[in-house]
Amino acid sequence: MRLKESSSPASAAASPAPRTAAGKAKPAAAQAPVVAIVGATGAVGVELMRCLDVRKFPLRGLKLLASARSAGKTLPFKGEELVVEELAEESFEGVDLALFSAGASVSRQYAPVAVGEGAVVVDNSSAFRMDPAVPLVIPEINAGEIARHKGVIANPNCSAIVAITPLWPVHQRNRIRRLSVATYQAASGGGAAAMDELVQSTRAYIDGRDYEPRVLPHPYAFNLFSHNTAIDPETGYNGEETKVMNETRKIFGDPDMRIGATCVRVPVLRAHSVAVTFECERPIAPAEVRELMRHAPGVRLVDDPERNRFPMPREASGQDDILVGRIRRDLSDPSGRSIALFSAGDQLLKGAALNAVQIAERVLALGPARA
Ligand code: A2P
Repeated sequence: MRLKESSSPASAAASPAPRTAAGKAKPAAAQAPVVAIVGATGAVGVELMRCLDVRKFPLRGLKLLASARSAGKTLPFKGEELVVEELAEESFEGVDLALFSAGASVSRQYAPVAVGEGAVVVDNSSAFRMDPAVPLVIPEINAGEIARHKGVIANPNCSAIVAITPLWPVHQRNRIRRLSVATYQAASGGGAAAMDELVQSTRAYIDGRDYEPRVLPHPYAFNLFSHNTAIDPETGYNGEETKVMNETRKIFGDPDMRIGATCVRVPVLRAHSVAVTFECERPIAPAEVRELMRHAPGVRLVDDPERNRFPMPREASGQDDILVGRIRRDLSDPSGRSIALFSAGDQLLKGAALNAVQIAERVLALGPARA
């Protein structure tokens, strides 16, 4: 792949001002990759651009791809207006790194094309996550997996990321053998159209107007409902719950972990919250978990019982860190091995775009080798 020219970690790389259209590289940035964003006009796509900018990701060019509906639109990046192109088989010529966030069917069709062109794909969809040959990565947990990629690295489900990133230091210290997760999921998980539906239907409700849901299956304003993925008739779990359970086991590398999940859509714009209860192999005190959270990468402790101040999705929005608090004993387990806590994390950032760019930074740091 063309990333072989890149030899230094993205985060540490000198970052000469990049030109932002593919093929217009400045010589000084010649070692930096050409990056494509597939789904650039979407809720995650826009955040991918912002993360690349804020984190000074070295770029030789940036190519914005979306459906025919968006071809010719422009999006701002580093003071320039970049033109969105229609995704096509030829789109990946000269692309080193492709960040996909346009849904599983687009990934299934075009990720192999991108890999065939020599690009590394970081895929935000569910298309390849459970493929044993594809690393499924939260860098704070299993960055080491990235090195074994064969062209595609999968970005996990957003609820799984918010729920389990804080749990990893606990699991390393005192294995979590059972985990129960209840999610409170924001509109952004359904894309820009779902966010718009939340805003529009809330306005209509307040104004006393009727609003016919277009994106989500149920009224969203002043309501909540079981996650809108299909229920598996055999297990009774919906698609989102199944992803959280299966992906957690894969990311933790612990196929025996017992997990249950309940996933619910709530009328919040862009940060997911999760109520988590876990049981460790040995007794564990809330103070020990609180201390682990203070030092956990990608995590910020928000745990102030005196002021009744704990993680809130409004406060998590726009933040890189996952907020964790309400750390307490699970009183339903008298053995002292179980803890309950509550977390909130930005679905578009750590739940999607930020995690993908963190993976991409490590791909760059790996340099030439593709496993
Ligand atoms: P477009 O805006 O042209 O429809 P979101 O998750 O916010 O709904 O965004 C989905 C993203 O995926 C958008 O950028 C959307 O482009 C893009 N997308 C959806 N379907 C396709 C497709 N068939 N080919 C290319 N891009 C697609």
